[in-house]
Amino acid sequence: GPNQSPRNHTKYKEIIATLPRKENVLGAQRDSYIHEYQGFWCTPTLLEGIMSVQEHFTAQPTDIIICTHPKSGTTWLKALCFAILTRARFNDSSTNPLFTKSPHDIVPWLEMFYCFGGTRDPELPLWATHIPYTSLPESIAESKCQIIYLCRDPKDLFISYWHFIGKLRGEAIPLELAYQKFCEGINLYGPCWEHALGYWKASLEFPERMLFIKYEDLMNDTFLYVKRIAEFMGCPFSAEEERQGFVKKVVDMCSFETLRNLEVNKGKVLNSGTGPFKVENNAFFRKGKVGDWKKYLTAEMGAQLDQITEQKLIGSGLSS
Ligand code: A3P
Repeated sequence: GPNQSPRNHTKYKEIIATLPRKENVLGAQRDSYIHEYQGFWCTPTLLEGIMSVQEHFTAQPTDIIICTHPKSGTTWLKALCFAILTRARFNDSSTNPLFTKSPHDIVPWLEMFYCFGGTRDPELPLWATHIPYTSLPESIAESKCQIIYLCRDPKDLFISYWHFIGKLRGEAIPLELAYQKFCEGINLYGPCWEHALGYWKASLEFPERMLFIKYEDLMNDTFLYVKRIAEFMGCPFSAEEERQGFVKKVVDMCSFETLRNLEVNKGKVLNSGTGPFKVENNAFFRKGKVGDWKKYLTAEMGAQLDQITEQKLIGSGLSS
């Protein structure tokens, strides 16, 4: 069942040893290598989890899977989906677990959960994953469960990623080097463009099963998107709920400022949802802004990333 963690590390380790590999510059851990698996790059620890999920995960038709490339706003979307789904249960919002737990301890990270275990509320239909669309466990496609994808401008995504990995490693990666590797797509779950495109194409093919959102749009009109997400998940806000301010309550409860300033997210509390990575909750709340890349990248680097984005997205209908 989904609350067990089938392990078959030896078998996975053997497969991983045969995969193409490069020096691990942008992985979260100090593994020597980062490997190419089914068209994306990942470090061995995560690959074990991914292979385990691919082999063992059985999606329920009622499941809702939050899919993102790392640093696209996963934490935010987890909080929003949870707050929307449980708004009646925690009508008195002071009892909401979001005030005392990290969103990562509320919505499990699928590939971590399957490899390293963790706790999960079986009543809650939410899972989150960074696995690219075409590598998702087959049962997700077969069970017709729903998918919400959040994507983000690669420039901000890169700067967020660079900070995050530097923090996890306790030492910054030289920016130029990180930039170069990121442009080549040799980062966890990279390249980010193919990641977004896989989900984008699926969202065109299966619009009723997939909701595709951009971080920038969500930031620009959180209120509207919270309503959209609720509708998509099959629990639209009634006119009465709207009148009573439920949408605004969700938006406020999940805002960057609110979440970041909670005791649980402020300090150095470790996150059980991130398995062996031992990530402090505060690492998931940095700036929460659009356009912060300008403080770190030269205009030229920004333009080059834009150019890559344009080339990759050409003809897809997805705009940058
Ligand atoms: P920055 O590093 O640009 O600040 P993920 O959750 O996928 O790891 O992504 C983390 C990014 O989302 C970080 O971006 C983080 O600050 C931002 N973020 C976290 N919570 C947020 C919230 N409630 N609203 C907006 N952005 C948020």
